[in-house]
Amino acid sequence: MLEDKDRIFTNLYGLHDWRLEEAKKRGAWNGTKDLMAMGRDWVIQQVKDSGLRGRGGAGFPTGLKWSFMPKEVGERPHYLVVNADESEPGTCKDREMMRHDPHLFIEGCLIASFAMQAHVCYIYIRGEYVDERNTLQAAIDEAYAAGLLGKNAAGSGWDFDLYVHHGAGAYICGEETALLESLEGKKGQPRLKPPFPAGAGVYGCPTTVNNVESIAVVPTILRRGADWFRKFGRENNHGTKVYCISGHVNRPCNVEEAMSIPLKQLIDKHCGGVKGGWENLKAVIPGGSSVPCLPKDICDDILMDFDALRDARSGLGTAAVIVMDQSTDIVRAISRISYFYKHESCGQCTPCREGTGWMWRVLERMAIGDATTEEIDKLLEVSTQIEGHTICALGDAAAWPVQGLIRHFRGEIEERINSYRNDRPHVAVAAAE
Ligand code: NAI
Ligand code: SF4
Repeated sequence: MLEDKDRIFTNLYGLHDWRLEEAKKRGAWNGTKDLMAMGRDWVIQQVKDSGLRGRGGAGFPTGLKWSFMPKEVGERPHYLVVNADESEPGTCKDREMMRHDPHLFIEGCLIASFAMQAHVCYIYIRGEYVDERNTLQAAIDEAYAAGLLGKNAAGSGWDFDLYVHHGAGAYICGEETALLESLEGKKGQPRLKPPFPAGAGVYGCPTTVNNVESIAVVPTILRRGADWFRKFGRENNHGTKVYCISGHVNRPCNVEEAMSIPLKQLIDKHCGGVKGGWENLKAVIPGGSSVPCLPKDICDDILMDFDALRDARSGLGTAAVIVMDQSTDIVRAISRISYFYKHESCGQCTPCREGTGWMWRVLERMAIGDATTEEIDKLLEVSTQIEGHTICALGDAAAWPVQGLIRHFRGEIEERINSYRNDRPHVAVAAAE
C-alpha cells in the first residue's frame, strides 16, 4: 500500500492551489533544467528502468515506445502528442490531473519532448473537458510567462512549444491514429497500423502518442529515481497508479495507489467497502468498459495489475473499477455497454459497424429473456468474429464485455430465457423458430 509521501499527485482532490507558485512548492518544475542536462539517453533509460507501462489502457512499455523514435532528426520534425481524450466509461483520472496538477503534466510534456527531440507537443483534450482545457491553458500561459516553455524552455537550451487541441466529443478520437487524423483536421477515423506513429504520425512525421498519466509521472520518476518507482507493484507491473472506483461502493473515488494492490483492499481501504458488504458483490469491471467483467469469486483474490488481470481473462485497462452489487441487472448493464460501442463505432469496418449493433439488439432481447439458448452461442460466435478482425481496438472492446458476460453469467441469461418461455410459451416458440 502506498504511503502519503510516495504519492506523485499530491493535489488529486484539488485541496491546494494548482497555480505555478503553489505547484512549485509541491515539487513541480524542481530542477527541470538539471534533469534535462543529464541528456536524452539518460531520460529514456530512466523511464525504461522504472518499468513504467502506458497508463492509457494498453500498458505498452513507455521507455520502449520512446526509443522507437528515430535517433536523428531528418527532414521530418518529431512530435509528442498527448492523448487527453479520456472517454473510456468509468475513467476520470486524467481529468483530475489536468484540473488540479497541470504543472506536473506540463513539465512532463517538456521533458518527454526533449527526450524524443520534439520541439512541439500537442495535447488533444476531450471535447467535454471544457473547464480542464481552460485550467490547462491558463497553466500553460503561466509557464510561458515564467520562461518554462518557449525559447530555451526552463533554461535548458531546448526550444519548446505546447498547444492544446480541443476534440469534439467522439470516443473514437481517443484511438491514437484517429486522434492524429482529427488533429490534422480530418474525420476522426483510425488508420491501419503499421506504420505505428513513431514511423509516420502527425503530418506523416515521427510521433509518439502517450496518455496524460504516463507523461505526468515522468518528472517525479526522474527526480526520485527509477528504482523508487520500480519498488511499487511486482515484476513487470511497477509504479504507482491512479485508480477510478465507481458504482456500488460506499465512497466512489479516484486514488493513487501501488500497482498490484489487491482489488478487495483497494475498495475496502479507499471506498469504505462494497455497499452491503463484500458478500453483496456481484461483479467488477476492473479496467473501464472495454474489458470483461469478473464475478465475485475471482474478485476475492485478484491483484490490480496488467498481468494478473490478463491472466484472469480481463485487463487493467484504464484502471477504472466499476463495482456492481447483487442488485445489478448484469445482462442489461453489458447491453448498455454494447449500445455505447455501437454508437461510437466509426463505421469503417464491417464487423464493427454491423456487429456492434447486432450484439446490442440481441442483448436487449436477452435482458428480458426474449431469446433462445442457441442464440447465446451465436452471440459468442459473432463476438469472436468481431474480435481481431477490425482496424482498431474498438471492435475488440465491443466483443470482450459480451464474452465476459457469457463466460461468467451464462446461467443468468439462460434462467431469463427459460422463465420468459414459461411465462409466454407462444412467443418463445415463435422466437425459437
Ligand atoms: P495497442 O496495444 O495497439 O497500442 C498501445 C501503444 O503501443 C500504441 O501507442 C501503439 O502505437 C504502441 N505499439 C503497440 N505495438 C507496437 C509496435 N509493434 N511497434 C510500435 N508501437 C507499438 O493498444 P491501443 O489500441 O492503443 O489501446 C487500446 C487500449 O486503450 C485498450 O486496452 C483500452 O483499455 C484503452 N482505452 C483507453 C481509453 C481512455 O479513455 N483512456 C479509451 C478507450 C480505450
Ligand atoms: Fe471504426 Fe470500429 Fe473499425 Fe475501429 S473497429 S476503425 S471504430 S469501424
